[in-house]
Amino acid sequence: MSNNVTMEKLTALAKSRGFVYPGSEIYGGLANSWDYGPLGVELKRNIVDAWWKRFVTSRKDMVGIDAAIIMNPKVWEASGHTSEFTDPLVECKKCHTRFRADQIDVTAACAHCGAKDEFTQSKNFNLMFKTFLGSTEDDSSVAYLRGELAQGMFVDFPLVVQTSRKRVPFGIAQIGKCFRNEITPGNFIFRTREFNLMEFEYFVNPSEWEKWFEYWLGEMKSWLLFLGVKEDQFVLTEIQDGERAHYSKRTVDIEYLYPFGQKELYGIAYRTDFDLKNHMEKSGKDMRYMDPMNNEKYIPHVIEPTFGIDRSVLVTLLSAYTEEEVPTAEEGETDSRIVLKLPKALAPFKIAILPLSKKQELNTVAEPIAEKLRARWSVDYDETQSIGKRYRRQDEIGTPYCVTVDFDSLNDHAVTIRDRDSMKQVRIKIDELEQWFNLHLSS
Ligand code: GAP
Repeated sequence: MSNNVTMEKLTALAKSRGFVYPGSEIYGGLANSWDYGPLGVELKRNIVDAWWKRFVTSRKDMVGIDAAIIMNPKVWEASGHTSEFTDPLVECKKCHTRFRADQIDVTAACAHCGAKDEFTQSKNFNLMFKTFLGSTEDDSSVAYLRGELAQGMFVDFPLVVQTSRKRVPFGIAQIGKCFRNEITPGNFIFRTREFNLMEFEYFVNPSEWEKWFEYWLGEMKSWLLFLGVKEDQFVLTEIQDGERAHYSKRTVDIEYLYPFGQKELYGIAYRTDFDLKNHMEKSGKDMRYMDPMNNEKYIPHVIEPTFGIDRSVLVTLLSAYTEEEVPTAEEGETDSRIVLKLPKALAPFKIAILPLSKKQELNTVAEPIAEKLRARWSVDYDETQSIGKRYRRQDEIGTPYCVTVDFDSLNDHAVTIRDRDSMKQVRIKIDELEQWFNLHLSS
């Protein structure tokens, strides 16, 4: 990576600044579980809201749903998840550590205990999280936490068509949690056992699937640019026959160049009529769509762009993370700073109000400014420590603008606005602040 970011640096910053913490930390944590802190939750929400606006509410060919996490177990039989949703697993016979057979060299020594030639034969391990409904724990009460969002959109397809009166081509979108009993979670929020997903199923006439596949792949790329990911930070990989998910006839993975290697960020799949057809067979319900132009009934085919939310947060942070040398007040001297160059629309705080000192007279000016701007934008207010340290903190959390209220403000009724990226400062009348931010902050 060109910006010197490592996972160690990012996880340290994420914890110290309140983006992402280890889960259940007071009990020693729980491996690979993470909590979003006050700033992380804002960043995640800004990403999710922008996604929903871009792909759902601003389009006439998309609607959203919010389906239950626990669905009838027959859904997962029909979708093939109870039989096919597996990863190959090997276990070291010495230390019993389990590995994904496709991610290690099984002829090499165990990475945990160093034993050689001790791996078991590879067997398929199902990733679905099993649970029991109600007070009895037997086969009749087995249920699953959803392993993907998609099935909600498929089983609700007839009701959505009926109630929304959308015509093919159109999409159904959803945002929510998914659960997978991953064999080897890790790399911070990259791979966890519960994760957040946003995706849509786009229903098309089978004759048009290629056109829509290319269209949505293009839209996914422009979404990445919106997150601040640069074109040289991701790669498109065509997934070959035999390596695709059981439901897909074509898959392209969008892979990001993480500090730990090139790995999947998002994917787009051509799911054909696989899911609707299977649900029609298993449920006995008609899942076909009637084309009102010619009264022809057919099962639409599906293009599925899928966007992991936690990976979106991760790549947004990785792409924004910057270390740079900046001039100090001393002639010819420089200092280093960490700055998150987040897109303004995604920054947890858009503006920080910083009275130069804690003195009451400055707060009397600064607090009403914060109140007024807060009605429109997310605003931080910080009056502790030196102004230099406060600027550094705001840089590290990606706040695009700091507003400093100083003693001159008491007389000239003006404040200084500092730009996060250029560090340039301008003096603006307090009365003109709202207008200035209207111009410089798009949301
Ligand atoms: N409905 C299609 C589907 O679920 P997937 O490739 O299995 O496809 C979709 O998962 C996306 O979810 C991935 O592209 C990735 O962004 C994210 N994802 C998958 N497994 C994950 C995990 N264990 N932890 C975090 N994110 C994950």
